[in-house]
Parts: sequence; C-alpha cells; structure tokens
Amino acid sequence: MTIYHLSTECYPVAKVGGLADVVGALPKYQNKMKDVDAKVVMPWYNKAFVYDHEFEVVFDGFIHQGQNMLQVQVMKEKTNTLGFELFMVKIPGLLDRENPYGYQDESFQFLAFQQGVLHWLTAMKIRPDVLHCHDYHTGLVPFMVEHCPEFAFLRGTKTIGTIHNGEYQGMMHWDMIHFMPAFDHYKWGLLDWNGFINPLASMIKCCSAFTTVSEGYLEELFVSFKGLESLVRDEFGKAYGIINGIDTDVWNPQTDPMLDFNYTSKNVLKIKKKNKHKLCKEYGLNPDLPLFAFIGRFATEKGADLLPEVIWRSIKQTYGALNIIVLGSGNSYIEDKLKELNYVYANFATDIGYKEHLSHKIYASADFLLMPSRVEPCGLNQMYAMRYGTVPVVSYTGGLRDTVKDISTGGSGLNFTYPGVDDIIHAMIRGLAIFNQKQAMDDLVLSNMKFDFAWEKSAEKYLALYKN
Ligand code: ADP
Ligand code: GLC
Repeated sequence: MTIYHLSTECYPVAKVGGLADVVGALPKYQNKMKDVDAKVVMPWYNKAFVYDHEFEVVFDGFIHQGQNMLQVQVMKEKTNTLGFELFMVKIPGLLDRENPYGYQDESFQFLAFQQGVLHWLTAMKIRPDVLHCHDYHTGLVPFMVEHCPEFAFLRGTKTIGTIHNGEYQGMMHWDMIHFMPAFDHYKWGLLDWNGFINPLASMIKCCSAFTTVSEGYLEELFVSFKGLESLVRDEFGKAYGIINGIDTDVWNPQTDPMLDFNYTSKNVLKIKKKNKHKLCKEYGLNPDLPLFAFIGRFATEKGADLLPEVIWRSIKQTYGALNIIVLGSGNSYIEDKLKELNYVYANFATDIGYKEHLSHKIYASADFLLMPSRVEPCGLNQMYAMRYGTVPVVSYTGGLRDTVKDISTGGSGLNFTYPGVDDIIHAMIRGLAIFNQKQAMDDLVLSNMKFDFAWEKSAEKYLALYKN
C-alpha cells in the first residue's frame, strides 16, 4: 500500500509545531509495517536541511494560477535518511521560502503546493493508494482529485484528511476561484462554507475519511469548531479520533544528543537533578526549588496569555517557593510582558525564540510542565515531558484529557478543569506540596517515565482505516 503524506511541515526539515513532529515520525513507523510504503511530500524551503542533503529533480513542469504560469519542480531527497522518501515541491516565488507560514499571500502558496503535487502525480502517472492530507493547507486536495478534469487520472484515489488544528481553516474569498484549477462548477457547494471557500470544510466534505489527533478533540468539535460544528456532526460517519504517538528514537532521554546528561528510569532521580542544576545555573534560578516549565507558541489557544499573571501571582502566593522557566515565541505583547517579569523576579526566567535544543534540555530538567491550553487537539509536549520524567500539569481538554490523568484518580499528572489563573495556580501549589514529599515526587517521576506513547499502536489504527 502506497501512502503519500502531504504536509507543510516535517521534522527535521521544517518545524513550527507538532504537525512537523507527526509527519516526521508517522511515515517512518508506517514503513516498518508489512507492505506499507509511506512517503512525504512538502513544499521546498530555504532551510539548512536542503543545503545539508542531496536532492535530485524528479519532475519539471508548469501549472497555471490565474494568468500566471508557474514552474514546478519536484525534488527528491537522495539518501532516505529520514526513514521515508521525501519529496519537496519547488515553485520559484511561492515554494522556496524561509518559513512555512507568515506571508501575506499564503493562500496562493498553499494552492500552488496542492496543485503542484497533483500535477506531478498526474503527469507522471503515479496513483497512490492513499493521499493523506494534513490540515487545511492540503484541504482542497480531496476536492481537486474528484472534481478537477485536469487531475482526472487521480479520480477515485482514497483521501484521508487529518485535522491537527481546527482553529485554522484557511478561509478564502470567492475571488480566489480564478486562481484555482478549472473544476466542475456544479460542485461549488463542496468548497463553500458560509459564503467563503473554506479548505478545511471542503476537506471534511470531500475526503474518504477524516481523523482528529485525539478522540477527546473529536468530541469537542461537535460543540466548538469555529462554525463547522454542524458539518462535523453531519459527516460523523467518516470521522475517527486517532491519538498521536511520539518518535521514541528522537525523544529518548537515554540517547538524546541534545541533553547535557543522559539518563534512564534506573538513574533518573540522580541524573535529572544534574540537568536541572546546569539549566538553573545558566538561567540564574535556584536549583533546590521545584522548576515549572512552559514550552510553546504564545497563542491564546495555548493559554499563553495567562502566563504573566500566573507567574507573578504564583511566586507571590508561595513566597518564592518555586521557579518558572518559559521558552516560546509568538504574540509580541506576551513576549514583552515576560521579558519585563524576567527583570523583576529572580524566580522566573524566559528565553524568547524557537530553540529545539533548549526545549529538550528543559523537558529533561524541569520537575513540572505547565500546559494551560484552552484548545489542545493532541499536544505532544505532555508526552515528551512524561517520557523525560517530568510531571505534566495540564488543563482538561482535547488530547490532554486523553493522555494525562490526575493523581487523585490514579494517574500521574495534575489536571485543572478550567484554564484560568486561579485554577492553574491551585494545581501548581498541589505540585509544590508533592515536590516537598520526596518519596511521593520520586514515585511520580518514575511512573511518568513508564508511559508508552510510541507510534506503533496509532500507526496500526491508521493502517486499518486506510484498508477500510
Ligand atoms: P502545537 O503544534 O500546537 O504547537 P504540540 O504540543 O503538538 O503543539 O507540539 C509542539 C512542538 O513544538 C513540540 O515538539 C515542542 O517541543 C515544540 N516547541 C514549541 N515551541 C517551541 C520553542 N519555542 N522552542 C522549541 N521547541 C518548541
Ligand atoms: C496541532 C495541535 C497540537 C497537536 C499537533 C500535532 O498543532 O495544536 O495539539 O499535537 O497539531 O498533531
């Protein structure tokens, strides 16, 4: 069975968040299964990876976007070092950028990617068994496959749409129709949602089946999906919740090259402290106090706007009995607030930016990982934290509620129902109390490390879905 994963991100080529981690790992695990050949197709980016690896041109052609004729090249990475074949679609001016997102003309960028992929497959007469589309950036593929005469060769190909984040739907004005490949106009309703072209809605309508990255998140979409609630209810028959796994080759405290001191569950209690000491020293924090960490995008869905108040109030309320470290970037107001607090409180440190190495060091050093998310379709941070013996302190939502159970119900994490400042601080104070009872804390560290979030089980579920 041949599966083509279509995505704007893939670790380690280009990463903004968890989408990259999933697309960089799932195909690798799928390729370990019998008779599965999974590949990744993504846009070309001007990033270190493309200069450090050798590519060959496997296709050269043209697509039309309105009046513009765009050159499309498909580049294949020659060595398969990632555990799967990697194809990158290059279109000068649109798909040769520094980053996946953040451009004014993103709609053109993503349209060109989807069109470029389908044009290549059609021209080369490649008919995969499954086109697996990730998020709205590839959400028009199921429609195009079925209703654009140009891609008639691909008609009938099964399409899976995975919703990693329903907050982003890629809505476009209907004017954009002039830049799409020609399609059967009687089918326009399959593109529309409330008067806009909505790629995520179109994906749900047109794909063979769609998945969310946890079961809990799928349930939530019925009641809160930025206007698509009724659609997901109507299409429930082809909806599946499949929890993400983690790449245990990359995220392994025993071998992780980004850590100062590697460890296993046998010596974690000693060695984790060494990592913590080093990190605390670098950031001017007291290593004897419990260390709470936050890693992530500064966005309201992550509850990052609550952090400044959580930081100063928790430090005050506990009379400085805890430390907090924050790594992230995003909303500039939050960035500025955090920088300000960095000067005021000795118990708080922040590093603004995207730093893969530092994130690994923090998972390995912190005692607790804070995730006050308002929306969390799956969340990978809590799983990385647990594998590194760090106790997750998380809101009860989406994938977090599927993966973290509170200690009061036999789990090994700390939950709060509502992501508000008071509830978060209450959970932190519960954490502080546990930290102060050495045996209880040690038990918690060890029980977190026992969780098995490896990809195998979920990869099986995807395979069963493809076969179905
Ligand atoms: P999302 O994709 O919504 O941002 P996930 O929990 O699925 O959330 O995945 C986030 C991924 O991005 C994790 O691998 C996390 O370690 C990483 N990450 C987020 N922010 C940063 C940062 N500032 N520096 C390094 N890694 C980060
Ligand atoms: C999205 C979600 C996150 C999920 C990730 C990978 O970015 O916000 O919760 O873990 O995709 O599926």
